[in-house]
Amino acid sequence: MRTHRIAAIPADGIGKEVIPAGLRVLAALAERSGDFKLEVTDFPWGSDYYRATGKMMAEDGLETLKGFDAIFFGAVGDQHLPDDITLWGLRLRICQGFDQYANIRPTRVLPGLTSPLRAVNPGDIDWVIVRENSEGEYAGHGGRAHRGHPEEVATETAIFTRAGVTRIMKTAFEIAASRPRKLLTVVTKSNAQKHGMVFWDEIAAEVASAYPTVRWEKELVDAMAARMVQKPASIDTVVATNLHADILSDLAGAVAGSLGVAPTANLDPSRKYPSMFEPIHGSAFDIAGKGVANPVATFWTAVMMLEHLGETAAAARLMTAVEQVCAAGIMTRDVGGTANTEAVTDAVCAAIRGANLG
Ligand code: IPM
Ligand code: MG
Repeated sequence: MRTHRIAAIPADGIGKEVIPAGLRVLAALAERSGDFKLEVTDFPWGSDYYRATGKMMAEDGLETLKGFDAIFFGAVGDQHLPDDITLWGLRLRICQGFDQYANIRPTRVLPGLTSPLRAVNPGDIDWVIVRENSEGEYAGHGGRAHRGHPEEVATETAIFTRAGVTRIMKTAFEIAASRPRKLLTVVTKSNAQKHGMVFWDEIAAEVASAYPTVRWEKELVDAMAARMVQKPASIDTVVATNLHADILSDLAGAVAGSLGVAPTANLDPSRKYPSMFEPIHGSAFDIAGKGVANPVATFWTAVMMLEHLGETAAAARLMTAVEQVCAAGIMTRDVGGTANTEAVTDAVCAAIRGANLG
């Protein structure tokens, strides 16, 4: 029996509802498979923990997390606390502390969901966005001077390192090579940003030579935004900087019918540290505590976590179960259904056990 140690960090808002839902479907999968088990440890970190202790996570939290095989994360963000405290104190601390440099964001229109784009056929949108997750515009490099005076200045410098760009390109080419169409679009803004972005294009060309089976092309980020709307079927795998991919992945979620179902993986592909898996949607305090949050993003996130752990059969079973439940119209109200979190979770657990949902 294979054992995987999972650190669960529901954190804030609807994270406290969708992570327990995710753990229920994971337990159902382990039971159904009989070949692996998950040893889950819950961590109470987040904004409530901050109110009680003045810290978003335990001082030695990263040390503790090192012993796990994966981190299953909910959402961070609180109406009453500044975002830079909550975000940098927990999520970014884990991403950066564990050098989770590859952020992977798959996009598909799930059965039962409708793309707002007019002429989209099923299967037209099947993308993976590979986001650089450790540097670029999120490097935190900059400062403020002359505070409060008329000459006050702020700088926010994007950082691109040869090591950082090379490793994300390798990850993107690997992913593109593993997909049927083997097409990689390298996104930049190298017409306007003539240092970092030209560097990015040069390194893409260097790395490309090691992946002869992958067809690759360059696209400027503004043109890419238009292409995602106008020619979605022309896109397969995309690699972009931290900020560009942040923006493109929201657009991707929107054209796929809902940001509420989108998953993400923060990977350390070297596997020196545990990787972290989370739904993209955030803490959504407007609906928190009502039991109506959409758990599908968390389930899809769990699929990515199982793939990372090598449990590919269980991952495929869960994705199929989620698709069956969505196709049967058992969905939360954000995507046009009437079911609550529990009902969707029950249905996915039933589908995992082989129930026919009609
Ligand atoms: C995301 C989010 C975050 C990001 C925010 C919450 C800082 O938008 O995961 O895409 O930009 O990284
Ligand atoms: Mg974002």
